[in-house]
Amino acid sequence: MKKIAVFTSGGDSPGMNACIRAVVRTAIAKNVEVVGIMQGYNGMIKGGEHFIELNSRSVGNIIQRGGTILKSSRSKEFMTKEGRKIAYDNLVNAGIEGIVCIGGNGTFTGAEIFYNEYGIPSIGAPGTIDNDLYGTDLTIGFDTAINTAVEAIDKIRDTADSHGRVFFIEVMGRDTGFIALAATIAGGAEMVMLPEVKNDHLELISFFKNREETKKSFSIVVVAEGNFEGGAAAISALLNKEIPSFESRVVILGHIQRGGSPTTYDRVLASKLGYGAVNALLAGEKNKMCGLVNNKITLTPFIDAIQKKKPLNPDLLDLVGILNN
Ligand code: F6P
Repeated sequence: MKKIAVFTSGGDSPGMNACIRAVVRTAIAKNVEVVGIMQGYNGMIKGGEHFIELNSRSVGNIIQRGGTILKSSRSKEFMTKEGRKIAYDNLVNAGIEGIVCIGGNGTFTGAEIFYNEYGIPSIGAPGTIDNDLYGTDLTIGFDTAINTAVEAIDKIRDTADSHGRVFFIEVMGRDTGFIALAATIAGGAEMVMLPEVKNDHLELISFFKNREETKKSFSIVVVAEGNFEGGAAAISALLNKEIPSFESRVVILGHIQRGGSPTTYDRVLASKLGYGAVNALLAGEKNKMCGLVNNKITLTPFIDAIQKKKPLNPDLLDLVGILNN
């Protein structure tokens, strides 16, 4: 391979820039040229000025920056056959023989379909704050996101304590509760509401009905946005119905969790996975996600990374119930 492309796609995550930097510098060390595609799959279809030559200097001074210098998108056009045909023509015209895609579920699904249609090989690096990909212990951005969430929870604890209030704090996590569970343990929250656990609202109702006995003066409950019974506002309303005198405040942390300078952990993880992804591509691998399992760089077929469910750690769930006493 003489020329490869790199792009970021889907929801951005802190550490994507560190990964781009590692991809570019690893490729250049192996005498392979790198093209950066701006705006993910949308840029692949737009072509022209969305394809930029990258060298070692183009990725200088970005390791500490949040977001992605290559920008991102959730492309509707790439989901169409016509869009993918234009993207293929643009890649061929630019002489691109392989792709490193940094993103999550949607990104890898697109890469898999694209390979089956046009035979351009891709290796993925898992970039999403949700940590919802099978085949890697952690995804790029997750560590930064939970640190952001915990910093916010610490601040909310101060005012919750002063006023003796109950707070429902909603964190991101469309389908999985990894952020919520980690933020609950590190933030010292009483309870957590997760997409993976059905009927956990029943335990919550019983906790607040008998709260007097705990002698707690304030409470923090973390709610994953994809929780079964709804987000933090829905949970607060549900409790109000059950206990009419119940008063609480709702905070939605939202996209604040996607921004900011990546933690050391995310920078190192992103660097390892960018390096691993280029090496895999140059070794002839394709349609696989490069992850880190037990501190070793691994490759997992896209199809497994997307479809297999990464379970929450049951010990952590157990721990919430013990530490909230
Ligand atoms: O990238 C993952 C994620 O942050 C989810 O946690 C969240 O549900 C979603 O993206 C939000 O997406 P958008 O930024 O497109 O609204």
